[in-house]
Amino acid sequence: MSNDLETLESGVVADIAAASDEAALENVRVAALGKKGSISELLKTLGKMSAEERQVQGPAINGLKNRVTEALAARKAELRQVAVAARLASEKLDVTLPVRQSPAERGRIHPISQVIDEIAAIFGDLGFSIAEGPDVESDYYNFTALNFPEGHPAREMHDTFFFQPDENGERKLLRTHTSPVQIRTMEMQKPPIRIVIPGKTYRQDSDATHSPMFHQVEGLVVDKSANIGNLKWVLEEFCKAFFEVPSVTMRFRPSFFPFTEPSMEVDIQCDRSRPGEVRFGEGNDWMEILGCGMVHPNVLRAGGLDPDEYQGFAWGMGIDRIAMLKYGMPDLRAFFDADVRWLQHYGFRPLDMPTLFGGLSS
Ligand code: DAH
Repeated sequence: MSNDLETLESGVVADIAAASDEAALENVRVAALGKKGSISELLKTLGKMSAEERQVQGPAINGLKNRVTEALAARKAELRQVAVAARLASEKLDVTLPVRQSPAERGRIHPISQVIDEIAAIFGDLGFSIAEGPDVESDYYNFTALNFPEGHPAREMHDTFFFQPDENGERKLLRTHTSPVQIRTMEMQKPPIRIVIPGKTYRQDSDATHSPMFHQVEGLVVDKSANIGNLKWVLEEFCKAFFEVPSVTMRFRPSFFPFTEPSMEVDIQCDRSRPGEVRFGEGNDWMEILGCGMVHPNVLRAGGLDPDEYQGFAWGMGIDRIAMLKYGMPDLRAFFDADVRWLQHYGFRPLDMPTLFGGLSS
């Protein structure tokens, strides 16, 4: 019997030593000391023994039980130590590592988005609101309603991207300018109208200064007295605020657009004598920046307004080019390459929102 006890004890002790985690150790405990465990079964035999036998076996079995209980407790403490050490090692944190920047710190606003925000801030301050329209337009809004007669050569000058005709034979197109939103706004809103329309425009044209997708901002004022004097003042205020110079000199040249009469192109005085730099408000050069004019009576009519009652002025300007000028970005194509390095260099911080009181670009 005592031999059996020794064999049992060395077996259980070996199992305890071999248990590699607390769950395995618990299995060993149940197998030895659980209700039907090997040692528990031995303890049950004591009741059926003679008094003499029990005097010998009682201390032997109980001694075995106590030693196994202690061995289990000791191994449990050991395994817990090991588990804690492993967890500490796996959850180690190097507090000397540099802190990772938050997305709001790392992200950059594209210069076009920033310039559109600047334009919105300037015209918002002058009492204008923002209007938008679809990029995919009908021939009617892009041309006909804007007084481009069918077959007029001005349509050809727009290098339009057309879609396949639909089942009704109507050919949708990618708008070639933001002017269609003039008509859409007049259809929806009674004068006085004071809106600016920033957005994407499309023409089949691509080189260092032209991209097939580019951006324009359109302006439209319609009321009972809007005149060229107002137009000139608004454009001058805009150019001073946008280029952040105290004064600008502008030159209005006669031109032609189907949707305005009279029509003008506007040049802004600049200095291009320093290489790679353009300065406004000084110098002997002129740079064309926009087209404008008094809204043609046919356009007012197309917008549902009576030209004997209402009059208005409008202008259209390329955003990409004035952004290039203002922020010294030499190649337009880089605008749309989605190169993160370019954006890191020329982009703006997300929370630096342009305001007139805080400074547009500072
Ligand atoms: N839509 C013209 C263009 O893309 C620009 C333009 C000129 C818009 C005169 C106007 C305007 O509103 O009055 O070339």
